[in-house]
Amino acid sequence: MATDSLIRFENGLLIVPDHPAIPVIPGDGIGPEVIAASRPAIDAAVERCYGGTRSIQWFEVFAGIAAVEKGLDVLPAETLEAIRKHRVAIKGPTMTPTGGGHRSINVVLRQALDLYSNVRPVRYFHGVKSPVKNPHALDVTIFRENTEDVYAGVEFENGSPGELELASWLRTKNYPIPEDAGLGIKIISKAKSQRLVRAAIEYALARKLHRVTLVHKGNIMKATEGAFARWGFEVVREEYAGRAVVVADLKGALPQEGQILVDDRIADAMFQDLILQPRKFAVIATTNLNGDYLSDACAAQVGGLGVAPGANIGEGMAVFEPTHGTAPDIAGKGIANPGSMLLTGAMLLEYLGWVEASQLVVDSFASVVGSGRMTIDLVVGRPEIQLMSTTGFGDAVAEEVIRRHRATRR
Ligand code: NAI
Repeated sequence: MATDSLIRFENGLLIVPDHPAIPVIPGDGIGPEVIAASRPAIDAAVERCYGGTRSIQWFEVFAGIAAVEKGLDVLPAETLEAIRKHRVAIKGPTMTPTGGGHRSINVVLRQALDLYSNVRPVRYFHGVKSPVKNPHALDVTIFRENTEDVYAGVEFENGSPGELELASWLRTKNYPIPEDAGLGIKIISKAKSQRLVRAAIEYALARKLHRVTLVHKGNIMKATEGAFARWGFEVVREEYAGRAVVVADLKGALPQEGQILVDDRIADAMFQDLILQPRKFAVIATTNLNGDYLSDACAAQVGGLGVAPGANIGEGMAVFEPTHGTAPDIAGKGIANPGSMLLTGAMLLEYLGWVEASQLVVDSFASVVGSGRMTIDLVVGRPEIQLMSTTGFGDAVAEEVIRRHRATRR
């Protein structure tokens, strides 16, 4: 691959050539299907918006079962190296066995490349069936810490040497550890909490969003979840004075014009608030496990995982992937919804700074769904909807990209 296709990161800025090479991990299950279905729309948007002066040179690298079947490791060193070198990658879901077997590739990827923000925007697209009355009222972006908490993975199985040693030490400190317990250690650090909150505030500032809410379970876990919120507020006070303000510090006064309000919510109350008063929220910064639960719940509110995109972002490096998994129940049937992957591709384009192309993909997706053409996950029980296959839906979005672009130039 020519060196002029390499994305660089200098002085905190991403420098993107006109024809960047970007690794693609097709993934397992429906991964290859949804990637193949979304590529035409993404490529068409770039081609149309920049008249052929820009393009993406996609190239495949492997991870997951697909890698094992090729005789490679589940996460081959060359795949990690390709992402490190090219800085931006896109990935289909990969299979993780529960209970035993290898660790989640996603967890290893995120930790190895220090992709510390898991960014999950959730918004409603007109026409999608939702279980709530006003799904359009929810428009939030979740920043979920991506390297600590449950991802730190410090666990000791009952009866293992680690559990026996740790449990007996804890008993000397009067913690009543049952003989049949497994143990897990929750790790949340100041530096890693603060960089996540910083990323969320920067995102809100760049998009002129009004509020950043820190979500935690600090009423119970004060040294970890509670500390996450305290350290987050510290960042606001020390680094963003004038541009953002902790709501409690206002003491009844009004914020300055354009100032971002930063507040916090206990995780369980947040699930209720997101349903009862969704308009209150814009950006959510939270710890790993809370973020996982919240983003799936929010996705359900706007119509499900099939329309929920995501990204793992670090310093000048990012891996984009949909929120959903490999969906083994529908893999190979040509019925998976490529929507999440399409919107994930739009996030990738935005990260490159190709915002016109990104917007064109989102608008075209919205337009196809809005016209009543959808995959089966969004159609069930709705005779008025036109059922599309995975490829059919992807092609319809690509055609809409071309139609919309032509219409704007008339
Ligand atoms: P899943 O997201 O694969 O499936 C949950 C349900 O949603 C299934 O009924 C599935 O058919 C449906 N679904 C998911 N994506 C869809 C789409 N694009 N279109 C239509 N329907 C869709 O979650 P599950 O079953 O918990 O996990 C399956 C496998 O995926 C596991 O091995 C898990 O570890 C892995 N996984 C991988 C992720 C990743 O690589 N980023 C993320 C989540 C799960």
